[in-house]
Amino acid sequence: MRPFTSTLIAFLSATLAFALTLPKRQTTTIYQSPYSGIIVAPVANDVIVPGVNFTFQYDNSNWCESGFSQFVVYITSGSTPPPFDNVTVNGTLADGTYVLDLGKYVVPNFPGLPAIGTPPPSSMVLPTTIVDEVDNTTQVYLTVLQEYDGCPGHIAVEYSLTSVPVTLGAAAA
Ligand SMILES: *[C@@H]1O[C@H](CO)[C@@H](O)[C@H](O)[C@H]1NC(C)=O
Ligand SMILES: *[C@@H]1O[C@H](CO)[C@@H](O)[C@H](O)[C@H]1NC(C)=O
Ligand SMILES: *[C@@H]1O[C@H](CO)[C@@H](O)[C@H](O)[C@H]1NC(C)=O
Ligand SMILES: *[C@@H]1O[C@H](CO)[C@@H](O)[C@H](O)[C@H]1NC(C)=O
Repeated sequence: MRPFTSTLIAFLSATLAFALTLPKRQTTTIYQSPYSGIIVAPVANDVIVPGVNFTFQYDNSNWCESGFSQFVVYITSGSTPPPFDNVTVNGTLADGTYVLDLGKYVVPNFPGLPAIGTPPPSSMVLPTTIVDEVDNTTQVYLTVLQEYDGCPGHIAVEYSLTSVPVTLGAAAA
């Protein structure tokens, strides 16, 4: 019993160490980045009123040291933030797992790089029609899905998903 148990524990800790050092591998080729950027604004439980601009700021992670970082911003609904399982091979959230796609944005990571894509705006606005899809008693999240290119370990692409819970306010009449 004792030798078996210690062998099992050794096996489990080896497995755990392995799991902690490698990015989490999902089905087929969708890798979860071990690091994520940070949603600075909005902050948890901010009230966002449809039709009224709210401050947006995402500090991206550039642990793969690529020239540019791109990310997509979503509004999702449900009792929990969207799970990583909902990331598709296309670097998007699967259809039906989000309420709104607020756009794809690109930031240069080093000075002097040309601007490519759309830079993230400092404020965003939700359409007033969002209240037709989610009522204000439903928990919503502002979610950022970031892509990481050319990561260590010869992994071409990884993704991170981070969310903050926010509240939909009543739209101004
Ligand atoms: C989203 O993730 C949840 C939890 O893993 C899963 O049950 C659901 O089927 C996923 N939906 C899609 C469309 O991928
Ligand atoms: C990925 O994008 C391709 C081309 O737009 C599309 O045909 C395919 O359904 C998408 N796959 C998923 C899982 O969203
Ligand atoms: C509100 O946000 C939209 C979308 O990002 C932007 O185009 C517009 O300039 C913003 N308006 C103000 C007053 O900040
Ligand atoms: C939620 O929506 C209902 C119906 O539109 C409205 O009467 C109520 O004032 C809203 N509550 C908040 C906190 O926005």
